[in-house]
Amino acid sequence: MILGIETSCDETAAALVTREGEILASVVASQDELHARYGGVVPEIASRRHLELVTPVVREALDRAGVGLGGVGSVAVTAGPGLIGALLVGLSAAKAIAWARGLPLVGVNHLHGHVASLYLKPLDLSPPFVCLLASGGHTMLLDVRGRRWEDVAVLGTTLDDAAGEAFDKGARLLGLPYPGGAEIDRLAREGDPTAHAFPVARVPGLDFSFSGLKTALLYAVRDLPPAELEARRADLAASYQRAIVRALVERVEAALVAAGGERVAIVGGVAANSELRAALPAAAAAPLRLCTDNAAMIASAARYAEPLAPPDALTLDAYATAA
Ligand code: KG4
Ligand code: ZN
Repeated sequence: MILGIETSCDETAAALVTREGEILASVVASQDELHARYGGVVPEIASRRHLELVTPVVREALDRAGVGLGGVGSVAVTAGPGLIGALLVGLSAAKAIAWARGLPLVGVNHLHGHVASLYLKPLDLSPPFVCLLASGGHTMLLDVRGRRWEDVAVLGTTLDDAAGEAFDKGARLLGLPYPGGAEIDRLAREGDPTAHAFPVARVPGLDFSFSGLKTALLYAVRDLPPAELEARRADLAASYQRAIVRALVERVEAALVAAGGERVAIVGGVAANSELRAALPAAAAAPLRLCTDNAAMIASAARYAEPLAPPDALTLDAYATAA
């Protein structure tokens, strides 16, 4: 089986997955509470917390799967993109385990990991499909032709903020706690999505832009006295969410035409959004716990990537950005 390790942002995660894509254990230690008071992830704090958590989280995953390291056949770890200091903690832990046990090591692209969440059982989705990857750090439309990362073409990406970032920044403007996506999702159910007409940015091609929307919300809330903001919060959340979901859905539909495809899948933290799921009823989506960052998706991606044998494994490096 494959031991997966993920530490690219603020989740310390480890999982055990079989070659066939069966999840035997998936442990995710979230640092949300630690970063909430700062309204976003503080990289240095994230690295330090990963350092404290990575060993117990790996142990917990092995315990839950009922195996020892002797039962592990290869190690998979997120190599990038992400926060470099955070990545290095997982990478070092994975190298140490692989080196000590003489195991092959697979460096996984975090974005490939999100797509590979769809290849886990029982969903086990087969390409081709168009994939919307929307998380706190990325918003991309992908033409997925095969299960290897080399078989995936980027059709569009965000020119500024990621969709999850737009949710989080919007939530902050509305006085909601971090991370804000789920908070806006919840509050939007009580509001009127037509109360405010927020703009949906139209940029050429299949790219996204969310910074104008965020500014529109800023203008809508900055002159409101606290009591008025309180009274309108649900309407603002519903209207803001509607604008983000519209932008995503429009682009997904255009991407399907561009790729000549029929099937859509959604992955990443924003795929947990109830309005997005309702707006794309035919889209394949992994269970919610596999949408947000986890290590099962990293182990899953490793099934379709080249492993490095023990001495070479030590040369594997972390990278902050995709390019
Ligand atoms: O995939 P993820 O866990 O981490 C990254 O790789 O970035 O995504 C986290 C993002 C956050 O921005 C969070 O606000 C957003 O996903 N999110 C949501 C929902 N649940 C999480 N956004 C909208 N609606 C949700 N229900
Ligand atoms: Zn992610």
